[in-house]
Order: sequence, then structure tokens, then C-alpha cells
Amino acid sequence: MNNNTNVTWHEHSVSREMREKKNNHKGCIIWFTGLSGSGKSTIANTLDHKLHQLGVQTVVLDGDNVRHGLNAAPGMLEFSHGTKFSKRFGLGFSAIDREENIRRIGAVAEIFAQTGVIALTAFISPYHVDRDRVRNTVKEGDFIEIFVDTPIEVCEHRDPKGLYKKARAGEIKGFTGIDDPYEAPVTPELTLLAAEKTPDILADEVITFLKNKAIISL
Ligand code: ADX
Repeated sequence: MNNNTNVTWHEHSVSREMREKKNNHKGCIIWFTGLSGSGKSTIANTLDHKLHQLGVQTVVLDGDNVRHGLNAAPGMLEFSHGTKFSKRFGLGFSAIDREENIRRIGAVAEIFAQTGVIALTAFISPYHVDRDRVRNTVKEGDFIEIFVDTPIEVCEHRDPKGLYKKARAGEIKGFTGIDDPYEAPVTPELTLLAAEKTPDILADEVITFLKNKAIISL
């Protein structure tokens, strides 16, 4: 796990299996990926409610919220040991910052999965390589990639935060789908046609998948 860092890995005395047995379901990461405005957060939250009602232990990690805390932008951070650290640890939307965003979220989501929780993540996560790194880091079967497949025209028409308009006007540079890439998954575990179906129906599609994979048995 760590090389030459004088940090050792501790085995937890309460095992993942013990926690999963107690929860009566398995832990995993449900990784929603798609354009801004595609419906990732809405579907994740609808699914969260449904699973909660079924007695499933869940957590939602959402792009906009996480970027207010763990992965705050440089301008939002104040360090008592020096302002220069704000630039170093704060995250924006360059390729490297998005990579680090996804790496941190993957690590947090893995902790939840290992503790028997179903982590629902809603990040654009535009690059194959970043998503695949999370997939390859976690236990096999833990990473369930769900492509929220909403055409950009629909996302742009919805424009819930007015960001597409700003991007078209050149007020935001490097906006995903406009002047920054979005690499759609090639073989996701599931694709949701989010322009054609309601969040309720789409959340049920995910629940059916989880039952078929025996992650939940309720
Ligand atoms: S990711 O690319 O690193 O996965 P993330 O999901 O955390 O992105 O954040 C995306 C959200 O940040 C968007 O829904 C939008 O509200 C906002 N945002 C601000 N600037 C950009 C940008 N340049 N590209 C995409 N989203 C942006």
C-alpha cells in the first residue's frame, strides 16, 4: 500500500464481512458519470431515498457538494500555515485537477464500500483513465459504472445552473462538453437513458441491477 513512507496498513478488527452481514447487503460504489445537467445528482438522490426506505446503508457523494468541502476550489481555502497551500491543495477543472478530484472521491468511496455501505457518487468524471483507475483500485465487482446518457442538447436546454450559457458566452473556459472533453464509458455496467425516463424509473433500474448482482437481497 505504501512504499518507504513509514506508514503501515492496519487490518480492521471489524471485518467488511461482519459489517455486510449486519447490514444484510453488500457494500459497493455506484459511480454515476455524465455531463453536467445530465441528471446524475437527481438520480443518485432518488436512488438514495429508495434504498434508505429498504433499510440499505447509503451515502451520496456529489460533485457540487464535495467541491465545497473536501475538494474545495483554491479560492475557498484558507490555511493557517500559509496562503500558498490554497493553490496547491484546492481543485479546479483542469485535467489534472479533475484527475485528483476523482482520485480523492474514489478513495473516500472505497472506505464506504469497505465498511459495507453503498456509496453513490455523482461526478462528471469525464476521463476514462480516471474512472478506470478507481475501478482498478477497489475490490473486483465493487465499482459499478453507470453512464447517465443524456444528449448534450438536452443538458444545455435544461441548464439548471446557467453554466452552459456562460460557457457559450466564453465566461467559463474548459466547460465539459463545450470546450473540454467528455469520454463516455464504452462498457459501463449500466446505461440510463435519462432524457427519456423519469428519475424514479431510472432509480428502479439500478435497484433491479443490484438485486440481480445479489448486492441487495431485499
Ligand atoms: S469533474 O469533472 O471533476 O468530475 P465535478 O462533477 O466534480 O467535475 O463538478 C462538476 C460541476 O462543477 C458541474 O456540474 C458544474 O456545476 C460545475 N462546473 C464549474 N466549472 C465547470 C467546468 N469547467 N466543467 C464542468 N463543470 C463545471
